[in-house]
Amino acid sequence: MSYLMSNYAPLEVSFVKGKGCYLVDSKGNQYLDALCGVGVTGLGHSHPEISRAIQSQSQKVIHTSNWYHIEHQETLAEKLCKLSKMDKAFFGNSGAEANEAAIKIARLHGHANNIDNPIILTANQSFHGRTMATLSATGNPKVQAGFYPLVSEFIHVDFNDVNAIKAHTNNANIVAVMLEPIQGESGVIIPKEDYLNQVQSICQANDWLLILDEVQTGIGRTGKLFAHQYNKITPDVLTLAKGLGNGVPIGACLAKGKAAKLFQPGSHGSTFGGNPLVCKTALAVLGVIEQDKLLKNATEMGQYLTSNFEAKLANSNQVAEIRGKGLMIAIELNQDCSSLLNAALEKKLLINITGQSIRLLPPLIIGKAEADIMINTICELIDAL
Ligand SMILES: Cc1ncc(COP(=O)(O)O)c(C=O)c1O
Repeated sequence: MSYLMSNYAPLEVSFVKGKGCYLVDSKGNQYLDALCGVGVTGLGHSHPEISRAIQSQSQKVIHTSNWYHIEHQETLAEKLCKLSKMDKAFFGNSGAEANEAAIKIARLHGHANNIDNPIILTANQSFHGRTMATLSATGNPKVQAGFYPLVSEFIHVDFNDVNAIKAHTNNANIVAVMLEPIQGESGVIIPKEDYLNQVQSICQANDWLLILDEVQTGIGRTGKLFAHQYNKITPDVLTLAKGLGNGVPIGACLAKGKAAKLFQPGSHGSTFGGNPLVCKTALAVLGVIEQDKLLKNATEMGQYLTSNFEAKLANSNQVAEIRGKGLMIAIELNQDCSSLLNAALEKKLLINITGQSIRLLPPLIIGKAEADIMINTICELIDAL
């Protein structure tokens, strides 16, 4: 009998340690981690510089309070703002909290313009988190089931359809559009190249905030530090989490221009958010990404994986589509493939299955040796279906 609530259905395996791209279970078996705790441990496990940052900071001070000045938080805010061309940062502990902050900023933006019932457009099949506001923003009825009444004033439109957004320009209550640059949880859905540029133009023409949820796509996952950099745009609000702490819980909501001026003392807060330990760790993560040229590696290894899958699976009648940007990759099959989760586990490979897709979010540090194991194992699994 477990004393844990039943909201997860974990696999039997339990990992006790890890190094680089590998995890070791309680029986001593080694697994290649092609999932990264769902896009979190981009630098792999027990990275020496991350361990060092955690150890040295924990020996100084872990937590004070946001009622006092926190130097590492200031430094991290400056670093993230300079990297993303944003003006201000707020730190929470998760992706959902980063998005909650973004939603609150959008509402303040509406009220500043005398809009009493501000509405945010979000996309069908999106995922923004599990808190009440973020699950209401999420465009997936399965995530919302059982939790009605939802937080109101989100309108869901089709992703990758500019006209679906344009159709709302007459609605004076719209204050923001909130999107993932690439939809992660619904299976790596990549929009047309200029989709975000067009959405930004619509937002600018209507004084709507463009909120980009880069909780999953950010921090190098797609081969750029932020996925929207492929579009050469800057959003008004940008949310981050997952890879930012390499496993230490941190979420960030960055804002620019007028969106950056809306929070005032008392508008928002978090007890743990941005404490010295997590900020020092996140600074170390950004340092390693830069120093080890991990964006270049993620781009090259992403291309290597995707092109090899395309070549090796070209004649497979099981495969419907291969989608990828950097190290965010999905292989969509023509049939249910949920059995592959355990089949991969038996072959000591950690993957995710989303709908009919095999989803891979390997660490940014992978080399060809690990990529070849992923390619061969997954092709074998698909062949055996
Ligand atoms: C795009 C996106 N936004 C938000 C979240 C929620 O993040 P968290 O689970 O840290 O609250 C996720 C988690 O998968 C995500 O992929």
